[in-house]
Amino acid sequence: NQRSTEVLRAPVICVLGHVDAGKTTILDNLRQTHVQDNEAGGITQQIGATNVPSETIYRRTEMCREMISREGDFIVPGLLIIDTPGHEIFKSLRSRGSSLCDLAILVVDIMHGVAPQTIESIQLLVERQTPFIIALNKQYLEGMTFYESIYCLNSKVDLLYDWKSNNKKSIELVLQEQQQITQNHFEKCCKTIICQFAEQNLNVALYYENPDPNEYYSMVPTSARSGDGMGSLIALIIEKSQTTLSRRISYTHELQATVMEVKVIDGFGITIDVALVNGYLSVGDKILIAGQEGPIVTQIRRLLIPESNQELRTTNQYQNEDTIKGARGIKIVARGLEKAMAGLPLFVARQTDEIDFYKNEINIMLKTALNSIQLEDKGVYVQASTLGSLEGLLQLLKASKIPYSGINIGPVHRRDVMRASIQLEKDVLMATILAFDVQIEKEAQEYANKIGVKIFQNDEIYRLRDMFVSYRKNKKE
Ligand code: GTP
Ligand code: NA
Ligand code: MG
Repeated sequence: NQRSTEVLRAPVICVLGHVDAGKTTILDNLRQTHVQDNEAGGITQQIGATNVPSETIYRRTEMCREMISREGDFIVPGLLIIDTPGHEIFKSLRSRGSSLCDLAILVVDIMHGVAPQTIESIQLLVERQTPFIIALNKQYLEGMTFYESIYCLNSKVDLLYDWKSNNKKSIELVLQEQQQITQNHFEKCCKTIICQFAEQNLNVALYYENPDPNEYYSMVPTSARSGDGMGSLIALIIEKSQTTLSRRISYTHELQATVMEVKVIDGFGITIDVALVNGYLSVGDKILIAGQEGPIVTQIRRLLIPESNQELRTTNQYQNEDTIKGARGIKIVARGLEKAMAGLPLFVARQTDEIDFYKNEINIMLKTALNSIQLEDKGVYVQASTLGSLEGLLQLLKASKIPYSGINIGPVHRRDVMRASIQLEKDVLMATILAFDVQIEKEAQEYANKIGVKIFQNDEIYRLRDMFVSYRKNKKE
């Protein structure tokens, strides 16, 4: 193969699927982390990137190396994995994640099958012709007796009826070793799911029965809890990356980077999380990104990467780098990021005349993006930790018929209270700040109390909405 001499970058892998299918838990199992345990309400509400090094991949695929046809040249230098939320309101984050990726893992709960956000994810992937692998994940048998459920919890045995867990073998072998009744149960679930995919006009097959990977999407049974099947899943990702996808993931110097999140970090102020897919970035580079009021031109002051296998959105341990090559999830510290917006590309101006060129590019993109955030004259003031979660919250408010008149990202300051107070003259009820996952400055709270602006704060989007809904109900009564 001619291309084997080329340098491959890490493929970008996006994890998609219906709420609670086990997306984050699968990543926790791969990374040996506990991100899911610490999520408010067990819900992913942001997009997260993790750099998984090749050592981890190598270790985790030990039991199924035969699946990797070019094992001798294990050449993918790692994976850049992007977790996305499954709740309905976060479509913009799923869309952002899937638009970045080379390959997706579509997680389906084996007991629940294809669900609304599975279908939405399929549509996003098919539209962009992004290949994907299906993880048939979990879960306990519904309608278990009390005794059975206790047994399941205690032994951490998962999934199907009387499943005997083993994460040291390929899942194909582990399935063969189950007793007949368990295999029957598994087959029944699989058949149902194959039919459900067929209804979406997709051919799917268990990876070891797949007659033609160009025509059938492969399914890998997994248990994120016990790690069963995880080796097979990762091996399949590597095999696909190093064969079908190798052209696509050949490293090039041409910069391809997207701003994923805008986030306030103690000590650094507003920072941006970036998926650097191709090319390289260096400290001192002049960068251009989209801002709420137009293009932002600034200079990279620090380039940070989270520790291997730590998620960018949850970690606070970073390593400083002078130059970083794609594909990596990175954090950029720079001045003037107050109005930065996530979801659009990041450009570097290596020559002065490139500044105007990219400004123009960004202006065109911004026009399209900003049209989607429509502020009302009368409405609540909405504040969130990241633009991604802000978009989700706005989506939820829209669905709940709660109008919004102002938005901001980051902690609630006195000036936010001032902005929200404009509503006092229009509709007292709307003189309210909904603060998602952000701090409220003491001074801001005091000022709000004094002038009669109400502030609700929560780190779970649905709770925050409910707080306002019951407040509105009480006020009206
Ligand atoms: P959202 O990000 O909120 O859409 O959910 P998710 O798809 O990331 O699912 P998450 O990882 O939060 O898992 C949801 C619940 O399912 C958690 O309680 C997990 O512990 C549980 N879970 C995930 N994978 C498995 C599995 O393989 N077996 C069992 N029994 N439970 C699982
Ligand atoms: Na969840
Ligand atoms: Mg999740």
